[in-house]
Amino acid sequence: MVRSDVPPRSRLLGWGFRVPSTVVTNDDLSPIVETTDEWIQQRTGIRERRYADDVDGSVALAEPAARDAIAMAGLVPTDIDLIICGSLSPDIDWPGNSSLLHERLGIPAVTGFDLRNQCSAFVYGLAIADQYIRTGGARHVLVVGSEIHSSGLDFEGGRGRDVTVLFGDGAGAAVVGPSDDAERGLLSFALHADGEHAERLAVIGPACRQKPRLRADQIPPESAFVYPVMNGRYVFKHAVEGMTEAVREVAAKAGVAVEEISMLLPHQANLRINQLVAMGLGFDETRMSNNIDRYGNTTAATIPILLTETAAAGKLERGDLVCFAAFGAGFTWGAALYRW
Ligand code: ACO
Repeated sequence: MVRSDVPPRSRLLGWGFRVPSTVVTNDDLSPIVETTDEWIQQRTGIRERRYADDVDGSVALAEPAARDAIAMAGLVPTDIDLIICGSLSPDIDWPGNSSLLHERLGIPAVTGFDLRNQCSAFVYGLAIADQYIRTGGARHVLVVGSEIHSSGLDFEGGRGRDVTVLFGDGAGAAVVGPSDDAERGLLSFALHADGEHAERLAVIGPACRQKPRLRADQIPPESAFVYPVMNGRYVFKHAVEGMTEAVREVAAKAGVAVEEISMLLPHQANLRINQLVAMGLGFDETRMSNNIDRYGNTTAATIPILLTETAAAGKLERGDLVCFAAFGAGFTWGAALYRW
């Protein structure tokens, strides 16, 4: 039996973001991690990022972003019936951020879970929210991406500089709910994963493979064991290919031509990755939004932050086809196509 109150489509009802107030420029990092402003800008497009000196964890950063998204949707926290949190930098090892955010927002007895999909977590979260809404499992889903990278980066000389210069702290959130217009909202998704590449972009420890999980000789500053490891060139190549293909796939699934996409909102890992994706798709600069120059890579938070800024700048108009695309550790990657 088909339920009459289940909408044919879901759509974004509200969005918001927060970044910490402390700005860290490339020149600030240069004497600490043996790098230069010129190297970082040329290779990545990043000029500065934010560090959460004044924020107590990724949930504290997520809360105001979530409250903004809920208010913009015309809702109150108790209207939310599912919380999905993406973070590779949760406040504590377990339980996950969704439990802690649930408590902060004061929503009793609501469903929630965490997504460990790193940079693609927000796109995965949108897809799951859409499934819940279109099958009647939830009405208003809060999808959050929130990261505090700055406490988990290697600042010991040049040892981890390839990764350290990339990341920044930030949080973004969106509320997904029923669409009152069958033409508008989330149209299609492409979600992919390939664990063959898992350890080419990873944090290996401390975790249960180690017995004990952390030894004294693995503790910084002596050891880089607890910091991210990344085969940058390998990730770069797969990111360009994966995101480009995912955009083509969501267009094909929705029965539209790639040329009809008005705006690409890509994950912010490296400006050059996004420029190559745009070039491969035949997009000029006006059809893509980026803000990596100001925030670096905020992993699960990049897309909701970019969404909020792009919408606030008046660059998204009713009827536009907007495409979200992401690639990250796992490898996991994907895209979502949205009729604005
Ligand atoms: N400052 C100065 N020099 C540096 C730095 C730095 N911060 N980092 C590396 N170098 C040096 C290297 O040591 C190397 O020197 P060498 O030629 O003497 O050996 C040289 O620069 C070139 O290094 P490459 O790694 O080849 O540089 P590349 O042009 O590939 O850029 C980068 C590196 C920016 C990391 C790039 O590979 C990249 O962006 N990769 C993808 C990152 C990504 O998408 N991550 C996924 C998201 S993260 C997530 O999911 C958690």
